[in-house]
Amino acid sequence: MGRLESQWRKGSTRRSALRGFAAFLAGSPLLRGQQDPFRDHSRVPGINELVTAFDFEPVAYVKVPREAYDYTAMGVEDEVNLRRNREAFDWVELIPKGVVDVSSVDTATEVLGTKMAFPIMVAPTAGHGQLHPEGELATHQGATAASNTPMIVSINASFPIDKIAAAAKGPLWYQLYAREDLEGNRELLDRAQAAGCQAVALTVDVQYGPHRERTQRNRNLIPPSSARQASTRRARARQGGSEISWYGAQAQTPWVDWKLVEAIRPLIQVPLLAKGILTAEDARLCVEHGLNGIVVSNHGGRYLEYAPSSLEVLPEIVDAVQGRIPVLIDSGFRRGADVLKALALGAKAVCLGRAPRWGLGAYGVPGVERVLRMVQAELVMAMASTGRPTLASIDRTLVRTDFP
Ligand code: FNR
Ligand code: LAC
Repeated sequence: MGRLESQWRKGSTRRSALRGFAAFLAGSPLLRGQQDPFRDHSRVPGINELVTAFDFEPVAYVKVPREAYDYTAMGVEDEVNLRRNREAFDWVELIPKGVVDVSSVDTATEVLGTKMAFPIMVAPTAGHGQLHPEGELATHQGATAASNTPMIVSINASFPIDKIAAAAKGPLWYQLYAREDLEGNRELLDRAQAAGCQAVALTVDVQYGPHRERTQRNRNLIPPSSARQASTRRARARQGGSEISWYGAQAQTPWVDWKLVEAIRPLIQVPLLAKGILTAEDARLCVEHGLNGIVVSNHGGRYLEYAPSSLEVLPEIVDAVQGRIPVLIDSGFRRGADVLKALALGAKAVCLGRAPRWGLGAYGVPGVERVLRMVQAELVMAMASTGRPTLASIDRTLVRTDFP
């Protein structure tokens, strides 16, 4: 790429990052009334003043280090996929059924043996210690306070899994990035299962480290970990390549294939899900390979730029699976109505990634609880307003989709 073009591209990405930032400020009714949200942080609002999950993002922005905010917010490259995850909800209308008694709304469900008061879980996200000194301990406490919301703990959590499990009583699942060697996987999985994790989500959509340009532009870049450098060197050696750079292809888990999934399966006594499925074909393969569940996900727009939104591909995946295993979903969910749309298109439950992180960064334990309670309350409202008082009464007639 010529010098000018590359300078233009950099500028344009910076401009679009700024536009994104302005958009979230503008999107928050809380800050709309503020004089100068960029300068006037002298008054951080009290938790009771926030009315939607979105409102927690600007509060987290002013409270956590810039790198931690950027790490949470960013998507891959131009962040087209990140934006599409939110746009997709505008392409689905809710069609209400009237004259239905909705004086009580029942949201309780069970997914792969885990009981849930709402079909809502905390998605696995790395390094909560960046956002709050108590990290995942606080997230687990906040999630438990919000009607025992199950939390999927990332393999890259800031605290050991047994410490997280001891911090609160709510159900935990574990998320694995498969190691190349079976013994490494065994050790991690043994620890997670001994800590009481009730299911394992194997994330399958991270072959190479993506280009997250917001992070790359931060001046105090944290160098790639030595483990990651070593795995990159091995992958490079296999391909006959050589140097490692910030802007090269950095191997993350390039070795995950069906053979490895089969080898890992006997190490797990609890249900195993594949996280990061985006096609009907892969969903069918999950069923054939004996997986117990699927999380439809594009990793919150963080890996494959120009991937579809997960909501768009949900119907074809649900059709392919034909009820043989539960289909969960994440990527872009912020509101109860978002959750309802996914349930109508056949999802069994929805996972929230960034929203509880904003709660954690903004107010710690009560922030996580409040974000989850808001989305739960919005789901109840949306179910009542559409005349669907039970999860069983939610089906595709509830939505009209206009996906492009
Ligand atoms: C993630 N995600 C993720 N997924 C995973 O399997 N293991 C991980 O360690 C992480 N880490 C991580 C960090 C951060 C900061 C984010 C935002 C996301 C992806 C996560 O599980 C989920 O797929 C997305 O976050 C869902 O999109 P939303 O809800 O953030 O829009
Ligand atoms: C991320 C990795 C850790 O999305 O999954 O940042």
